[in-house]
This record gives sequence, C-alpha cells and structure tokens, in this order.
Amino acid sequence: MFTFLFDDVGIPQDYRHMEGFGVNTYTLISKARKVHYVKFHWKPTCGLETTLNGNFFIQTMDPDHGDKFDFDPLDVTKTWPEDILPLQPVGRLVLNKNIDNFFAENEQLAFCPTIVVPGIYYSDDKLLQTRIFSYADAQRHRIGPNYLQLPANAPKCIYHNSHHDGSTNFMHRDEEVNYFPSRFDPVREAKKYPISSNVLMGKREKCIIEEENNFKQPGERYRCWAQDRQDRFISRWVEALSDPRLTHEIRSIWISYWSQADESLGQKIGKHLNMNI
Ligand code: HEM
Repeated sequence: MFTFLFDDVGIPQDYRHMEGFGVNTYTLISKARKVHYVKFHWKPTCGLETTLNGNFFIQTMDPDHGDKFDFDPLDVTKTWPEDILPLQPVGRLVLNKNIDNFFAENEQLAFCPTIVVPGIYYSDDKLLQTRIFSYADAQRHRIGPNYLQLPANAPKCIYHNSHHDGSTNFMHRDEEVNYFPSRFDPVREAKKYPISSNVLMGKREKCIIEEENNFKQPGERYRCWAQDRQDRFISRWVEALSDPRLTHEIRSIWISYWSQADESLGQKIGKHLNMNI
C-alpha cells in the first residue's frame, strides 16, 4: 500500500487521471457454477474534456490455483501479477453527469460492498468478510432504518421484503403479514441464482495469514520504476520521515522495512536522514 501511496499514482493530477482497483477479492460464478476469484480494475482514458471515461478490466484466478503463488491471493495487501493473470477488458465506464442535489444524492447515499448482482459473489477474503456485515448497520444509524426507500438507494427493479414501519417510513403497507412464508401472502421465493460454495476439509480457524511475504512485491514494484520515479518516491519518504515528531525508533523501523523490500532503497533513505544503517 505504501509503495502506491508514495509513488506518483498516489498523488494523481485529478480524477480523470486516477487509476483504481478493488483491494478486495470477489468471485465470479457462471451459470454452470464455475467459480473464479476476481479483482476489478479501472483505467481512465482521459479522452474528453468534460467526461470521465474509463476502461473497466478484470483479473481472474481459478481458486484451485491459489496455492501456486508465494503469497495468499486473498491477502488484501498483495496485488496479483499482471504478467501471469492479465487484465481482461470487460467494458467501459462513462461518468458524464454531476449530481443535482448534494444532500439527496450524495449525503444520503449508502454504498455497501454487500450488494452484488447475480453472477458476482464474495470470497473468503477476510477484510471483505468484515466489510459485508458492517456497512448496512452504519447506514441504518447514519440515515435511518428505511434508508433503502430513499430514491438514491432504492432498488430499481421489483422487489419484496418483510420490512414494516420504523422512522421515516413512507411506504404504505396495510397487510399484516411481515413474515415468510404465509398462506395469506402470495409472495414466493425469488428465482435462485448460483452462488459460490466451498467444500471445507479440516478446521476453519481464526488465524494469521500464512505466507505473508510482505516485502517481495514492494521491492519488485520499486525496481521496475525509472530512476526519476524512484527518486521522487525516495524524496517523499525522506520528507515524511523528517517530521520532527517521529522518534529515532520509528525512523529505524521504516528504514528496516524499505531495506527488506530493497537494500539500496533503505540505504538511500537512511543516508538522506543521516541515519547509520
Ligand atoms: C480495503 C479496505 C476498505 C476500504 C477500501 C473501504 C472503503 C470505504 C469507503 C470508500 C467508505 C465511504 C463510503 C461512503 O461514504 O459512501 C467506507 C465507509 C465505511 N466503512 Fe469501509 N473500507 C474498508 C474497510 C472497512 C472495514 C474493514 C470495515 C469494518 C470492519 C469498514 C466499515 C465501514 C463502515 C461502517 C463505513 C460507513 C458506511 C456508511 O455509513 O455509509 N470498512 N469504507
């Protein structure tokens, strides 16, 4: 993350030049129930003055191949090598309109990583797992229990749920049945669509991620940059670590991290800070 943040990509000129990719891993599932891990990528094309155009790519990985890498593919601090898992173009996004009303369409908007369309599902990415149950609770608190009735958040398709009343309810409901199934309510189960399932062997445990391998990718990223880009990266780190509030110990820890990523990188930052390594 810090190799992105302190690199040129971490300080984009404006939104039209900002690339992005999903930190979390989702899954794609076909009608035949074949599952692939997926990461989403966005690359702006900077085509037109007034619109934000971007190409939309995916990287996919067969979950059975997850063990082939020297890092855990579901570890959010790792990127997937694009030479082995190439970016596949899947579409284009055109952002050509600003919102009209800041409160209705921005302040009261509720984004949530839980809401996915058929064909996309979650993975065992543990950061994603914590996100999928936390956003909606925060939104009920922030906006109100009926936040999904607001036009900015309401589904655009026909749907049914058993929610009744609560503050800021503006749906007229006079039927008494708020449970399912019921002989008094003709509603039926929605059409099923495939979701990914895993056959689990052994124990499912809460444990630290094996194969952390935290320094290989940052070192490789740094080494693939041209000299001037490396120099900009170094000078941003020197500036950040020159903050007088930082202790000698904290500076040493950061230099040790960068030395583990790339020995010469740690030495250069240390030299600028007059630190003995
Ligand atoms: C890669 C890690 C994460 C990213 C990129 C991320 C991104 C975001 C963004 C962009 C928002 C602002 C949404 C908005 O204002 O519309 C947000 C809000 C929020 N995030 Fe995360 N988040 C991450 C991790 C987490 C984790 C681990 C948790 C909890 C375990 C969490 C819980 C929340 C909650 C509760 C909100 C407020 C939701 C709301 O009131 O609308 N996030 N996150």
